[in-house]
Amino acid sequence: MKISIQKRIKDIPYYPKALMYGMDEGWVRLSSNENPFPPSPKVFASILDSLFYMNRYPGGEFELKEAIAQKFKITPQEIIIGNGSNEIIETALRAMIHEKKKGAIIPEPSFAFYSIASMIYGYEVKRVPLKNMRIDFSTIMESLDGGTRIIFLNNPINPTGTIFKEGAFVDFLKQTPQDVLVVVDEAYGEFVEDKNFPRTYRLINDFPVVVLKTFSKAYGLAGLRVGYGIGEASLVSFLERTKQPFSINMVALVAALAALKDQGYLKKVLANNRKGKRFFAAALKEIPLSYVPTETNFVLIHIGPHAEDIVKRLFEEKVLVRWMGPYGLAEYIRVTIGRMDENIRFIETLKRILK
Ligand SMILES: Cc1ncc(COP(=O)(O)O)c(C=O)c1O
Repeated sequence: MKISIQKRIKDIPYYPKALMYGMDEGWVRLSSNENPFPPSPKVFASILDSLFYMNRYPGGEFELKEAIAQKFKITPQEIIIGNGSNEIIETALRAMIHEKKKGAIIPEPSFAFYSIASMIYGYEVKRVPLKNMRIDFSTIMESLDGGTRIIFLNNPINPTGTIFKEGAFVDFLKQTPQDVLVVVDEAYGEFVEDKNFPRTYRLINDFPVVVLKTFSKAYGLAGLRVGYGIGEASLVSFLERTKQPFSINMVALVAALAALKDQGYLKKVLANNRKGKRFFAAALKEIPLSYVPTETNFVLIHIGPHAEDIVKRLFEEKVLVRWMGPYGLAEYIRVTIGRMDENIRFIETLKRILK
């Protein structure tokens, strides 16, 4: 083909999509931080009821916004729904497009889509390293300049599982210029046990901050693609304008509403995760392998120079986990906390391979 493609587009890396192995019998799939349980039965019932209306455009956004607003005691105008929280990352970048300010600051390693999306929309990405596997506000402050337009913070951070706390975050926001949008992605927020985890949604009227949440993880709807953002009402109205109409399909909207209402399902998922965390901690100590204490549904484990080989060996045994080389952590693997039978299978297989 003779068609020309700009260099800045050629430079965009592919998003590392999850391998679709591991859905069949016999596999243990701990590579994509998914929920190991099928969704709540109430989700299935609501989906079946909705199918009859498939000839209509999806109209359930407002109902979902109202339910989320009730949960956080905020207004529906402070909420934007997205086709996954990934869509809100994009709407934020689109709404913030500025003739002169094109800087996007991204702590790294962190979720790959922030830098990919920033590049798509013509931002200049500044990568700021983590310190001891944590987001370091002082290095972010140092890299901020007059061209900075947007900062992506992931809390807890994928792939390390660590968090930043409310006090440090508010101090950071106080020093951040008012014309820089801070996007805080809390995709794994439901799993956090630390009491000092920021209640970011309460800060939206004091600082230019948008918080992202998702139904993909704790609510078990990754395949349907629904997430949401919470921000100050006028800011949200501008994000809405940069979004495709009807980007979230009807089935996803009714499923998210039913999932939100089934807090019993969420409790079961979180209890399983706490149990899995304790199991991993004890099993890794016994092997022994060091790991980063996690506030999420995954654990970053230090394997050593053979980490990539070990991941291949696990794959041969039908156990899928993620090698962290592409994240600049070549000696580490990231393992999702699954059901207990899956966690045991992973640990037993790993032990056998390490021998
Ligand atoms: C930190 C983080 N944010 C966002 C997402 C994607 O969320 P969604 O499925 O809502 O687009 C992921 C998925 O793995 C993630 O790890």
